[in-house]
Amino acid sequence: PKEKGWIGSYIYNYQGCWIPPRLLQGMIACQQRFQAEDSDIILVTTPKSGTTWLKSLLFALIYRVKHPIFEPNHPLLVKSPHVLVPFLEHTLYVDGQVPDFSTFTSPRLFATHVPFASLPKSVLDSKTKLVYLCRNPKDTFISMWHFANNLRLHHKDTSSIHEMFDLFCEGLSIYGPFWNHVLDYWKQSIENPNKVFFLMYEEIKEKPKIQLKRLAEFLKIPFSIEEENCGVVDEILRVCSFENLRSLEVNTNGKLSTGEGNKAFFRRGEIGDWRNYFTTEMNYKLNHIIEEKFQGSGLKFSYV
Ligand code: A3P
Repeated sequence: PKEKGWIGSYIYNYQGCWIPPRLLQGMIACQQRFQAEDSDIILVTTPKSGTTWLKSLLFALIYRVKHPIFEPNHPLLVKSPHVLVPFLEHTLYVDGQVPDFSTFTSPRLFATHVPFASLPKSVLDSKTKLVYLCRNPKDTFISMWHFANNLRLHHKDTSSIHEMFDLFCEGLSIYGPFWNHVLDYWKQSIENPNKVFFLMYEEIKEKPKIQLKRLAEFLKIPFSIEEENCGVVDEILRVCSFENLRSLEVNTNGKLSTGEGNKAFFRRGEIGDWRNYFTTEMNYKLNHIIEEKFQGSGLKFSYV
């Protein structure tokens, strides 16, 4: 089935997930062709939940021996996190060929927005680890709305926040329904805690040091006492902070190969911006849906 989605174009339902045609081709190519390795690490997110941030944190964490974080030319200071950590489904689609990952340092680090049920089989059959990040649905929606507005400038579509909100509530968002995406990975993180690590944007905001150390332990690359004493953990958090990344030349004026300005990935970077946009009715409606969808899951979002 197809529906009129965001940005004035149609989105398609594939394996229960709403997706625009360009990404759909990438998702199918990724399912059919990606060969996971046991040492791979794949970061999975719902769009606009802090993917850029987690890409930078994981890159800094995983490659900290090859690229010490205090290096003046650290890759994160000169390249976009989206170039350093490619999306599986985007990369695989570019020329319809299996991309050459032979230059990737092991462990290879990739990202994806693909729902759990549609992951390539080799990811599930291998010892590949998944790090999942989500964000409270209200801020996620507002962040998406701004991002879509940026894109929409090119498409001259003027659908309002209310139209887009209604679609989001019906589950019609890119890689949505949002709740299915989150709940599927949440369940997997409970059933298979050595494979799937579940994180929330708000948790990293509130206790960045604790979350980064948990992540390092999950990946079996914990920080040593020396590293902690030398300030490695603090420096990773500083380099990957919103303020630092946003101010870098590459993220201010750089563009991705798709033509998107890197700047679009850094807007406010805060918890609770939804309060500046939600009406009482919107809040009521979404609260009701969230309660219904997440009831009994044990999953609680933070909105402040
Ligand atoms: P806002 O639009 O609320 O500001 P994604 O990377 O998944 O596309 O998500 C983008 C959101 O993450 C944007 O949210 C963006 O500002 C925020 N973000 C980007 N880098 C960040 C960082 N280093 N720390 C915190 N938030 C960040």
